[in-house]
Amino acid sequence: MMSHVWHPYTHLKTQSPAPKVVGGEGPRFTLESGEQLLDATCSWWCMIHGYGHPRLVAAIREQAGELCHVMLGGLSHEPADRLASELVRVTPEGLNHVFYSDSGSVGMEVAMKMAVQYHHLRGKAGKHRMLSLMKAYHGDTSGCMAVCDPEEGMHSLFAGYLPRHHFAPAPTAPYDAEPEAVAQDLAALRRVLEQYHHESAALLMEPLLQAAGGLNMTSPLYLKGARELCDEFDLLLVFDEVATGFGRTGRLFAADHAGITPDIMVLSKGLTGGHLGHAATLATDRVHDAFIGDSPYHAFMHGPTFMGNPLACRVALESLAIFEEEHYLDRIAGLHRILREELVLDTRLRAHSLVADVRALGATAVIEVRDPASLKGVADFARQQGVWLRPFGRWLYTMPAYITSERDMRRITGVMKAWFS
Ligand SMILES: Cc1ncc(COP(=O)(O)O)c(C=O)c1O
Repeated sequence: MMSHVWHPYTHLKTQSPAPKVVGGEGPRFTLESGEQLLDATCSWWCMIHGYGHPRLVAAIREQAGELCHVMLGGLSHEPADRLASELVRVTPEGLNHVFYSDSGSVGMEVAMKMAVQYHHLRGKAGKHRMLSLMKAYHGDTSGCMAVCDPEEGMHSLFAGYLPRHHFAPAPTAPYDAEPEAVAQDLAALRRVLEQYHHESAALLMEPLLQAAGGLNMTSPLYLKGARELCDEFDLLLVFDEVATGFGRTGRLFAADHAGITPDIMVLSKGLTGGHLGHAATLATDRVHDAFIGDSPYHAFMHGPTFMGNPLACRVALESLAIFEEEHYLDRIAGLHRILREELVLDTRLRAHSLVADVRALGATAVIEVRDPASLKGVADFARQQGVWLRPFGRWLYTMPAYITSERDMRRITGVMKAWFS
């Protein structure tokens, strides 16, 4: 039967038929044909518990029996209240207020609007642009496209349609860089701030791991330095932890590596263990309290229909409980050891003529090639060996579910390496 589904990021002329998924268990999903594929990407990095986790499925079922949805405008409910408290508990000290929405992109839109309105309410309406980083990816809605890398990103054709923001160079010092190397990245950031701080509301960044912009892994010292620069130049610091949140970098949040609190933090993907689209934009008292006032402009005019959806909040609570009770950070450390051993420390792989770099951070690893053409065919190659890989551009990566066994993790890295042998 012909499918009427328009698939994302695909050329309609060259796309191959999308195989139909009928179920999944653990780190694997099952196709209609019976074929089982070990998911090296945990479905765009969100199915952190893998597929069909009994506790998550039960949580959704239980909640569905009580209340599937109700508007959050003027009403509240137990799962929304409880999840907000839990998010305040686990995120960096000082993020005390939670605004819900329905996807990572919308969570970022909320963050940007909040930052602009914050300055407006303080009498600084001129601070209405964003400062973003090259190699950034913050989502596909119009507001988010405007703060994605304007050159390498996939949105350049929309340049004439999008609002104009400012960009600082992407940090280059790696995770374990010496302070001197990070100082150069921070000096570059300072130069842009000196030029544009008067019209910039917030510095946006995917802390430590610029994900869809090329898996660029950077230093916690850069985060600390960015925090200080934002205070000096009166910009809010917004951490987009849509991809990095919930353990991906080896700590619960990337901010935890630096021991700092951003003014605004956005969470999605792993928030619900990938089971329902949802996001949370958290803010500090400083940001929140600027909205306490008498003028009509003090209300935050945003409210997606599905914000705080009870099913999403309930499954998010269960996801966080599993994460903590089952010591996921230890599992992630275990996965990281394998990724380092199998990929980063493999001298043959690193020396391969097609390979430009191999790096890992937490439960993420990437083989970056020199020429994107050398990854053509790798997804089919992996599928023949029972592994679902979905490289993009020059990046062959894995971001597995945290329940992936050591054996399966080595299977994924084995297939990634086999492509080069
Ligand atoms: C860092 C980051 N921000 C925002 C988004 C957008 O999230 P969504 O696809 O849920 O809109 C993504 C998605 O990959 C992301 O990686």
